[in-house]
Amino acid sequence: MSLPPIIQTASPRGQDPLPQPDTEAQAHSQALCETIVAAIDQAGGWIPFSEFMALALYAPGLGYYSGGAHKFGAAGDFVTGPEMTPLFGRTLANTIAPILAASKPIVTEAGAGTGKLAGDLLQALEAMNQLPERYDILELSAELAERQRQHLQATVPHLMDRVHWLSSLPEHIEGVLVGNEVLDAMPVELVHWQGSQAQRLGVSIERTNDGIRFVTAAGIISPERAEHIRALAEKYQWPDDYTTEIPEAGQAWIATLAQKLTQGALLLIDYGFPRHEFYHHERTGGTLMCHYRHRAHPDPYYWPGLQDITAHVDFTAIAEAGFDAGLDVTGYCTQAGWLMDAGLLDLLAAQQPAEPSHTTPALVRTQHAVQTLLSPAEMGEFFKVILLSKGLPANLRIPGFIRSDRSHTL
Ligand SMILES: C[S@@+](CC[C@H](N)C(=O)[O-])C[C@H]1O[C@@H](n2cnc3c(N)ncnc32)[C@H](O)[C@@H]1O
Repeated sequence: MSLPPIIQTASPRGQDPLPQPDTEAQAHSQALCETIVAAIDQAGGWIPFSEFMALALYAPGLGYYSGGAHKFGAAGDFVTGPEMTPLFGRTLANTIAPILAASKPIVTEAGAGTGKLAGDLLQALEAMNQLPERYDILELSAELAERQRQHLQATVPHLMDRVHWLSSLPEHIEGVLVGNEVLDAMPVELVHWQGSQAQRLGVSIERTNDGIRFVTAAGIISPERAEHIRALAEKYQWPDDYTTEIPEAGQAWIATLAQKLTQGALLLIDYGFPRHEFYHHERTGGTLMCHYRHRAHPDPYYWPGLQDITAHVDFTAIAEAGFDAGLDVTGYCTQAGWLMDAGLLDLLAAQQPAEPSHTTPALVRTQHAVQTLLSPAEMGEFFKVILLSKGLPANLRIPGFIRSDRSHTL
């Protein structure tokens, strides 16, 4: 028996209507919804929001990242730093080269998107005469792994024998693990503070004559979670009716990586803040955000499987998870601070023609991308970079974290 239609909120409150997907995409979303409804029914009518988010993004073959949605670039839903300009990857190469030299020449990239960063990093490390022995890509999505393979085959065919795809974490990690915009794509616990009580939010189903819709509802909460939320609420003086997220999956991921890291570093780039900003009493609606065809909106139930769902990163939680598992917090700064210190502007300057009148449209696009990456009004301040390490020499100079602004504390 097929499921009644899932009622979609065509227009998030106060915004222009979102674009409508075509019939094929709608059928894809309906198939994912059937999987989610089955999970909710099987669980007795309610699943935690983290489980809904995990299914919406990663249900095999159907989730946003594991299905065929275009995702990246102008025809997709969002654009990431590595997609804007190869200078992002080249600058990152400056940062990781000394770490690879001081540990093992192995790069692991988590969630490699289109493969653009992998291609740019490999080319830059080759030009620096520091090619890694292996470039391992940890990818949950078979569809993205195939896209990466095609991109790398076209751009660095002579280096393909160094590239390997992993579908789960390796036993040991050595060298450098990089992840751009990976933490924000991990499922979060959605929680609510109401009448001095902590609630764990989840998803249940409302059945009407027109079809069914997903609704957010409070469920059972463990004493440990309730206590954790109460401590945050008291420390940051949350008002009544405060909704936010707890990055349990992100913290668990970092703890696991830390245990597996024998020598080297984890370098993670993402949008977010330290805890006191994340849980600020004025941030009453949390940071959960959805992206559909370059429109950001707050409705996680809009065509599940066709849109990205993300949350900002609590970088204090990430630092604590690493520190508690034995890693050093070697660096933390804004994306602008890191990129400037690691030589982005020198790389841009090297592309300038001697005659300003010879500036090409490609160079103008690069200049615009650099501006977006650095500008405090765009990605420069909003994005942060954290470097967690193990067993590196104390005096190792790591471009990106030598002179960069240290006023951002965790
Ligand atoms: C927003 S995309 C970023 C892709 C790419 N790094 C970029 O910057 O363009 C998020 C990526 O994180 C991946 N991801 C999420 N959780 C992951 C995990 N536990 N391990 C590996 N990749 C993960 C997703 O599959 C997706 O490819």
